[in-house]
Amino acid sequence: MKKASQSRQFILISFVVGISLLHYLTPLNLPYLHDIFQRLYYLPIILAALWFGFRGGLLCSIIVSIAYAPHILFQWGGHLTMEMEKYLEILLYNIVGGMTGLLSQRERERTEELRRTALGLEESYQKLRHQSERIIAIEEQLRRAEKLSTLGEMAAVLAHEIRNPLGSIRGTAEILKDDYGPGDPKHEFIEIQIRETERLNRVVEDFLHMARPQPADMRPCPVQDELETIVNLVSNDAGERQIRLVLEPPSLPVLIRADGEKLRQAFLNIIINALQATPQGGSVTISTTVLRTDAATGVCEIRFRDTGVGIDGEALERIFEPFFTTKPDGTGLGLAITRKIIESHGGTLMVESEPGHGTTVTVRLPMPEEA
Ligand SMILES: Nc1ncnc2c1ncn2[C@@H]1O[C@H](COP(=O)(O)OP(=O)(O)OP(=O)(O)O)[C@@H](O)[C@H]1O
Ligand SMILES: [Mg+2]
Repeated sequence: MKKASQSRQFILISFVVGISLLHYLTPLNLPYLHDIFQRLYYLPIILAALWFGFRGGLLCSIIVSIAYAPHILFQWGGHLTMEMEKYLEILLYNIVGGMTGLLSQRERERTEELRRTALGLEESYQKLRHQSERIIAIEEQLRRAEKLSTLGEMAAVLAHEIRNPLGSIRGTAEILKDDYGPGDPKHEFIEIQIRETERLNRVVEDFLHMARPQPADMRPCPVQDELETIVNLVSNDAGERQIRLVLEPPSLPVLIRADGEKLRQAFLNIIINALQATPQGGSVTISTTVLRTDAATGVCEIRFRDTGVGIDGEALERIFEPFFTTKPDGTGLGLAITRKIIESHGGTLMVESEPGHGTTVTVRLPMPEEA
């Protein structure tokens, strides 16, 4: 920028010096040449005005006047009436320099103003775009919230409908319990029936109180017992589908601190998914191991391995999303809830799958020191 302005100044000076030399060196008996040179001065003046605005134009015309004046005064004699036309030309130089400079400066200022306006517009446009993107995102959130609130309403209706028959089931189970005393092999089944009815009742209530979920009830919890309860619960279903359900016990009993009810819900979700994915003749294996992280603490690892259809890569990325399901009657909430439960116990949930061969879901839960 500075370099360009310097070279422009150099051009202007060369012009003025060149034209002045022509004046001073050309004999006076060639007046028509002097007339031409006299007009040539307008070239640097107009250029200076265009390039440097009002001050540039005026400065150049003054320099030209100073360079040209001695030529009139000393070479032409400087007689006021005789050289009037030349004096007037000097006046004209300054008028042209000043006026052209003023006009070009105004033009330049207007261009600058337009540029600033365009910049401002661009900025506003960017802001607007940013805002509309946010609106779209918020709209998406709203849609999701709407989905959730519709689900909440459905849950409320469902809960209402489920609660009454649930009461009857529990009532009849209580009556049956009297018939099958603690020594009877069926006593345990009725106990399960009552416990699970209670659990179902609480799940329904949980849905109703979605806004204020029940606090976790953490107690020492034998992992194997919880798994056995769930396996007993689904073994009939597995048998009907001719799926082998294997529960491999750990070498030592594993005790963790957990909300047993929530944990059972999580295990049940995982096992139901495995059973649903496994075809006739397949198997679902549940194994528990203890991983020692250091001398004092350990991690309990429960693996649910099925020989089902597996999950392709694209679906695998989405299985924890609420409402993601590939089942015609699925809600897609199972794994989302399961992960929340496991994480609320300080654990992790991992899913590995080989499409066509099977899926392994790994739950890791921290064990308290005394375990
Ligand atoms: N063991 C598995 N084998 C194959 N696919 C699975 C397995 N577990 C989960 N999936 C896939 O993950 C999806 C999401 O599971 P999720 O339990 O969250 O919902 P869902 O089972 O479809 O519905 P819901 O649990 O409400 O009945 C399933 O639709 C299924 O495609
Ligand atoms: Mg499920």
